[in-house]
Order: sequence, then structure tokens, then C-alpha cells
Amino acid sequence: MSNNKIELIKNTLDIVDVIQEYVDLSKKGKNYWGVCPFHDDSNPSMSVSPEKQMYKCFSCDKAGGIFKFVQDIEKISFYEAAEKLGNKAGVEINLIKSEPKYNERQKKLIDALNDAMDYYQASIDSEDAINALDYANKRGLNSKIREKFKIGYAPKKGLINYLTKIRHHNESDLINASLMNSIGEDFMKDRLIFGIANEFGDTIAMSGRTLKNDQAKYINSSESLIFKKSHILYNWNNANKVAKKNNELILVEGFMDVIALYKANIENVVAIMGTALTKENINKIRGLKIILMFDSDKAGISATIKSIRILLENGIKTYVAQNPSGIDPDELFNSKGEKAIKEIIDNRITALEFIYISHKNKYDISKIEEIEKFVESFKKYLIYASPVERDFLINKIKNELGVSREILVKDLKINKTIVKAQTTHNENKVLNQKKNEYNQEKYDIKYNKSAYILIRSLLKSKSLSEYYDRKRHEINYVDRTLPIIGTYIIAAHRGIEKIPNKYKKYIKEKINLEGETIEKNEDLDDIIKVINKNHKSYEKNKNRIKFNKKKDGNYGKSN
Ligand code: CTP
Ligand code: MN
Repeated sequence: MSNNKIELIKNTLDIVDVIQEYVDLSKKGKNYWGVCPFHDDSNPSMSVSPEKQMYKCFSCDKAGGIFKFVQDIEKISFYEAAEKLGNKAGVEINLIKSEPKYNERQKKLIDALNDAMDYYQASIDSEDAINALDYANKRGLNSKIREKFKIGYAPKKGLINYLTKIRHHNESDLINASLMNSIGEDFMKDRLIFGIANEFGDTIAMSGRTLKNDQAKYINSSESLIFKKSHILYNWNNANKVAKKNNELILVEGFMDVIALYKANIENVVAIMGTALTKENINKIRGLKIILMFDSDKAGISATIKSIRILLENGIKTYVAQNPSGIDPDELFNSKGEKAIKEIIDNRITALEFIYISHKNKYDISKIEEIEKFVESFKKYLIYASPVERDFLINKIKNELGVSREILVKDLKINKTIVKAQTTHNENKVLNQKKNEYNQEKYDIKYNKSAYILIRSLLKSKSLSEYYDRKRHEINYVDRTLPIIGTYIIAAHRGIEKIPNKYKKYIKEKINLEGETIEKNEDLDDIIKVINKNHKSYEKNKNRIKFNKKKDGNYGKSN
């Protein structure tokens, strides 16, 4: 989809017309106002600016242009929103890419490969292909599937004669297309052939599977003017439209796995060609959610972890669909059918959860040194978690491994690559939120830790809270919510008043209840000194703290 078309749509449509189809708007001053459809509200908090062609809700902070609005309100992907708005604007958006541009030499190779593919597809029905046909059928590759995925049979010989004598191709082109080897024989002999297509659906390479228990299970075409292994995702030409529509792409390890999912009526599936995802793969799939569904053997798990790193580093939302142990998707479909496949995909976990589980399997968490290694390694992934997920995982680690939040967030740096990837994708907002959260955590550890210990202790001890009542006027808190919570705790201990929910929530979110506490009055005296010292240093450094605190306890944009 070209940027020109997007621009054209933007220039043709007026945001007020687009939004008015969903929300009643009324003009006040320069802008239009309406009730925001993205959160529960009855006041007109959403403003629409014809001048900027943007909307913004002052209550829930949702903002954007026409594409974002339609995407969010219809819950559809960017591509679908573009198609919808394109219809309205009279600009045709085609989800399939336009025409390929091949040079003369590339065209020759593609022609030869197409002819070869025809020959192989016809050959599987010939008499000397009985074994191949039998094998294909046993693996559930019936004629319909063979047609759809361009699957055929390479006999021991015959292709070269056909391509040179009947189709008049040059021998050098056949060599370059990996159809003939250097001694003039057929490149693929007695193998089941999987045609490999580029994004336009043209066959650019082949992979031949042995029918026996040959050492080389698959033989692939060599790289050529038209085939770069690292660029290809098997089945991308079929999968990409559905994937963009669903905003979701499933990644499997092999050809047979792609086909198994297709049989289970899942079309947004591709296989990587090799063991790792490449830069080129990433560029194709950017913007989509990725579900990894690799084999559950050792190699599959290690490929999953490798892929997770690359995907997360590129700011791509990643999930893992876990197979029962020792099984690949193809076997799963054959033994348990469509329902089992779909169930596994529905039960996917986030990439970070997967990493957490694999860390728990890898490290012996009954040993303190192993826990340290666990934490060091896990932190490398934790930086990619969303704020909510990070919190969830930190709590999980705290509960299951006994590692404190402070240790987990210490030195946790937001990765530069993700910064870049997300910036290029206009996700600055998410990023700022992450940065702010990170800063907030650093700030809390630095300035509020002792105050949290104090509050935590007050919650646990009535007598300490009585002593605190006499001392509380001496305390200068950095976090101005804490003195209020402190007085509520005293009142609660005395049975006068309950702690309001708002503050309960605050306590739950900020003050980890299982952390360190104090018991004696003289400890309280000491801690007051520390709190006041922190306050002093906070006041001194205030101007350098790069975020603002909003009154409701959320944290605003960084400067
Ligand atoms: N592969 C390869 N060469 C090999 C083995 C594997 O190129 N000798 C590639 C193929 O693209 C294959 C993928 O790695 O599809 C996954 O390998 P594997 O899981 O072993 O193969 P399956 O697709 O499961 O094939 P089958 O079910 O026929 O064993
Ligand atoms: Mn398999």
C-alpha cells in the first residue's frame, strides 16, 4: 500500500465527517466536541480539530487521525481501516501488492522454474510416481492441497530434456535456477517437490523431500538472482492478506506445518526457511502480532527463544502457542485434528511468559546462585514487557522466587533498539509511558523506599501506629499521598474509619506488603530521619527529575 494513497485519502476526507458517522459532534469555537466512544462517559470530552485533522479525548487521552479512529472504533487493522476509508474517499486500496518488476535475467529463471513446476506437478500422476503419490497421500497431501501449495514429484530424470528440447530454455538458466547440476543431471531426483513462491506467487525456488530415510531430508535450491533464502517466508503470498486482516500471523518451522494449519482452516501461517528469523522477514511482518508455533523438541524451543529475542527487539508483539511435548503441528493435526490446533492457538501465552517458564525449567531455583543467574538473564527480556506485564512478572518472580522488586528493576534499562523500532512506528506514547514508569520506579526506590517501609509497618502494628501519631508532624514525605494514608491507618487501627478504596489501591500498587518492616519505636525514630533526609535530597534534585506527577497518581509525559 503506497504512502501516496494514504495521503490521498487523508486529503480527500474530513475528520469531522468520518467521526460524525459514529459520534454526535457539535461545534464550539474552532473545534467540534462529542462524547468519547472509547471510554464510559456522558460528557463531551472529545475534541475534533478540523484544522489539525486530529481528535483527542481529554478524559481518556485517546488521540489520533482518521485511520486510528476507524481502527479503534471498528476494532480492525490498519489495512482494513485504510480499505474502508479508501472506499469512502474513492481511492482504491488493494491489500495485495502491485505488479512485480523483474529484469530480463530474472524473468528467464522464473519462466524456467514455472515450467519445471508444471512438469513436477504433472509427474506425480505418472506411472513411475506410485511411491511418491503414495507418500503424499499418506501425509495428507491430496490433489487439492497439491494444487494450492504447488507440490509435485521430481522423477530421477526427464526434466532437463523437457525444459531444453520442448520449452527451449538455456542450460545456463537451468543451472542458475538449480534445476540442473554442474554435470548436466537433474538437480532434484526422486523427491517430493514443494514449490517456494515469492510474495507475488511466482515460483522462485524448490525444496525436495526424500521419500525414503535419506540423510538429506530436504534439498533446497541454491540462492540465485531471484531466490534469497533469508528473504523468504514460505506461504507469505497466501498468508499475508488474511494476516493483515486479522492483524496476526502464525509462524511455524516447516512446510508440512504450514499445510497442517491450512487443513485446520487457518490461513495466516508462514514458515521460516531455516533456523532463525531474519531482518528481511521482520520487515515483512512488522505491524502484525506474531504467534510462534514451533516444534516442542529441544531445537524447537531454542528456535522459539531465538525468534522471541529478535521479535521483541524489533518492538513486535509476540506470543507462543505451545504444542504437547514431542509433537510438531503436522503430527498434532494428524492425531488430534482441527480442534486441537485451534485450541493451542487460542491458549497462546505471551513471549515473556514463555521465557519465564523456560527459565524455570533451566535454572534450579532452590539454589541461590541459580536464582541470581535466572534474574540476570530474565532481565534481558523484562525490558520488553509492557508496563502491566512487567508488573505482573515482577510480582510472580517475587512470589515464586522470593526476589524483591528492587532487585528486579535495578539497572533495568529500556533497550535502545526497541526505542528506535517503536519510534519509527509512531508509538512514542507507549514508549514515554514505559520510560516514565521506569523513571518512576527508580524514583520510588531512591526517595520513597523508607517511607514505604514505614507505611507497611504501620499497617501491621497498632502500637507502632499510636507512636507514629505523636511523631507524624515531624515527617516530610516526598510522596504526598503517604501522610494521608498514614492518618487513615491510625484511624483504622482505632476502629474509627476504614481506609478508603482509593488508598487501599494505592497501597496495593506501590507498597509491596511482603517487604521489609520495622517493629520498635526507636526504629521508627531512625526511619523518620532517613525519610527527612530523602526529602531534603529530593528538594535539592527536584528540577532534575524528569517527569511530573499528576494529582491522581498517574505520571505524565516526560519533558
Ligand atoms: N529443513 C531443511 N533441510 C533439512 C531439514 C529441514 O531445509 N534437512 C527445513 C525445511 O524447510 C523444513 C524445516 O526445516 O520444512 C523444518 O524441519 P523439520 O521439522 O525437520 O521438517 P518438517 O517440515 O517437519 O518435515 P517432515 O514432517 O516431512 O519431517
Ligand atoms: Mn514434521
